[in-house]
Amino acid sequence: MANPTESRAPTIRSIRDFSLANQSVFMRLDFNVPIVNGEVGDDTRIVEALPTIQYALEKNAKVVIGSHLGRPDGKRNPSYSLEPVAVHLAKLLGQEVTLADDCIGEGIELMVKGMKAGTVLLLENLRFHAEEEANDAEFASRLSRLGDIYINDAFGTAHRKHASTYGMAQIASQKGMGFLIEKELKYLQPLVASPAKPFYALLGGSKVSDKIKTIEALLREVDGICIGGAMAHAFWKVEGTPIPEGAKQPKAEDVEAARSIMADAKRREIPILIPVDTNEGFDIGPKTVEKFSEFLSNAKTLFWNGPLGWFEKSPYEAGTFGVAKNLAEVSAVKIIGGGDTVSAIKQSGLAEKFDHLSTGGGAVLEFIENGSLPGIDILKNRYKPETTQTLTREKIRG
Ligand code: 3PG
Repeated sequence: MANPTESRAPTIRSIRDFSLANQSVFMRLDFNVPIVNGEVGDDTRIVEALPTIQYALEKNAKVVIGSHLGRPDGKRNPSYSLEPVAVHLAKLLGQEVTLADDCIGEGIELMVKGMKAGTVLLLENLRFHAEEEANDAEFASRLSRLGDIYINDAFGTAHRKHASTYGMAQIASQKGMGFLIEKELKYLQPLVASPAKPFYALLGGSKVSDKIKTIEALLREVDGICIGGAMAHAFWKVEGTPIPEGAKQPKAEDVEAARSIMADAKRREIPILIPVDTNEGFDIGPKTVEKFSEFLSNAKTLFWNGPLGWFEKSPYEAGTFGVAKNLAEVSAVKIIGGGDTVSAIKQSGLAEKFDHLSTGGGAVLEFIENGSLPGIDILKNRYKPETTQTLTREKIRG
């Protein structure tokens, strides 16, 4: 029998739940991608957003895309223009993408009104206006005029309460998520709610203090943590292990964070593995690759954030690539989070051996810390898809 309380549970509508034909869809995407010599570098975030854009185009929507690029501090700055993204997106879609010269204003509203179904308009960088990051209500309302339907698919920015990621969703009568956020939730929700055990975290990168809250949250769930990258130096310092000259020396706040993590892990009887050898302080050494790989080999769930060494500079990629190669053979649910880590895994040529390469950097860490993100929570409403409502009513009547 249907449980009436169930139908009141907040749900997030998918882009599939809307009639899109001839509607303008404001899509908040995260096109904050590296720009190298005026061209898009790693295009993962754009490629991952394509299914949502293509779906809306197939359904004859007018697609209006809003994104930020970098941190232009609320000022118009040509070096943060989305122009290279417009060029790249047009290539990937195989159709024209018009770049508007701003993201709000009467001119832009007229452009949207004049759009034909099945076309794409990319708005200029939302962060050229300080009101975006300030989550200004008037700015959010002006952006809202550009879409009949609001779709957020910017997972990488869903930890920000900005006008386009939060304010717009607060006022939108029709709001939902795209396929990119749906896919992120498919992998990340079980990670925080019910990970298959043993669940291990492999963490690298440079600063422990930036990740302390995430590590504290992980310590409540994991069966062990391996720590590499320059982050490990703070743990060495706590243990009194010398750090090679010329390598990154940890700041006092990082050492304090490492000390507190080690104490917490000890209380919980959770092993923390730190490197036993190093390549000049720029990479983990071969013994550590072996030690980490062996420890992680019986994982059922694995979360990896942060490269284990300076993988961009040869030969310091050996540690990260070596562990990646060994993990490729482990039959666990393997989730990679963070732009650098995703780049490293792609460079290693082993990307297809991992289950999910998250498009989030800070977002994925905050998701693990809090179990959700503001830009995702605000998409929830008390919606129940039509078909289920009808079925439920029929069942109750019957
Ligand atoms: C990111 O790259 O992490 C997102 O695009 C968010 O960017 P931000 O840290 O500048 O808000």
